[in-house]
Amino acid sequence: MKAVIGTDLALARSLLQQGQLVAIPTETVYGLAANALNADAVAHIFRVKNRPSFDPLIVHVPSLEAARPYVLQLPDAALRLAAAFMPGPLTLLLPRSPLIPDLVTSGLERVAIRVPAHPLCLELLQTLDFPLAAPSANPFGYISPTSPAHVAAQLGEQIPYILDGGPCRVGVESTIVGFEHEVPTVYRKGGLSLEMLEAIAGPLQVREHSSSNPAAPGMLLTHYAPRTPIVLGILEELLNAHQGKRLGLLSFSRAYPQVPEARQVQLSPTADFNEAARNLFAAMRQLDNLELDLIVAELLPEEQLGRAINDRLRRAAVH
Ligand code: TXA
Ligand code: MG
Repeated sequence: MKAVIGTDLALARSLLQQGQLVAIPTETVYGLAANALNADAVAHIFRVKNRPSFDPLIVHVPSLEAARPYVLQLPDAALRLAAAFMPGPLTLLLPRSPLIPDLVTSGLERVAIRVPAHPLCLELLQTLDFPLAAPSANPFGYISPTSPAHVAAQLGEQIPYILDGGPCRVGVESTIVGFEHEVPTVYRKGGLSLEMLEAIAGPLQVREHSSSNPAAPGMLLTHYAPRTPIVLGILEELLNAHQGKRLGLLSFSRAYPQVPEARQVQLSPTADFNEAARNLFAAMRQLDNLELDLIVAELLPEEQLGRAINDRLRRAAVH
């Protein structure tokens, strides 16, 4: 099989109805989608991604209203967040109804619900009479795809169709929020900043990652990793410490004359967090394809989308 890349919604819809997988665009990253109510189709996602079955999937719907059959209750706080940020890069963990197969939630009592802010994806979701389970469309543990070409490079042999919605506008995955005794709790920092969330939800708690704890899925530490080792720190110091190696460099905004231009990426020359997030995964892929000994990178200021970017960089640097 060789994936076709195109914008044929009717084809995407009919493949999904037959229980097949289709890569879908969202504003964050591309997803590998299947009918969330069809356990066989969902099992196929896990096989194609080589993903452990204890790592549950997000369920995509065209509106929170459309998710009602799949959740037992919608707390007021969830409704407030949804009113402010759905469609958008927010995923809510809500008590699941029996309609959701065990495999989707890895047996957990909550289901992850998301309404992507992407016109083509929303149009697809609206024409389906089932929701779409979709993880990011990358092999487990590798960098998430932010363009159809990224999906085709790794999963192109295993899926029939990639729905082309162009490059992803946000570029990092959705922010995952649940409620613990009604306190809004962030399980994954993502495309919706903590500052924006807090403005609507009030004070938040943030759960940090564990090393590889199935009891806290979504929080595996090693993730988003390129094959090339990455070290984080002050770039001038790292460049001195690793002289003689074939280095790649990933910086927030500054260029470094010590490294050939083709081997360095500035995430945003104007130091704009949104632009940096949009460019992050493509930059990691680009450097990873250069047969380097090492990638040196720096963390961004720990604010706005800098937090989500730093989270991905830290995970990528765990080898
Ligand atoms: O932006 C996104 O969220 C993208 C696009 C495609 O929607 N999706 C995505 O899916 O990033 P994935 O599978 O790569 O990451 C989803 C994370 C996983 O780490 C998973 O463990 C966590 O969400 N998750 C999903 N369902 C969960 C649940 N019921 N309870 C706790 N964590 C859950
Ligand atoms: Mg993923």
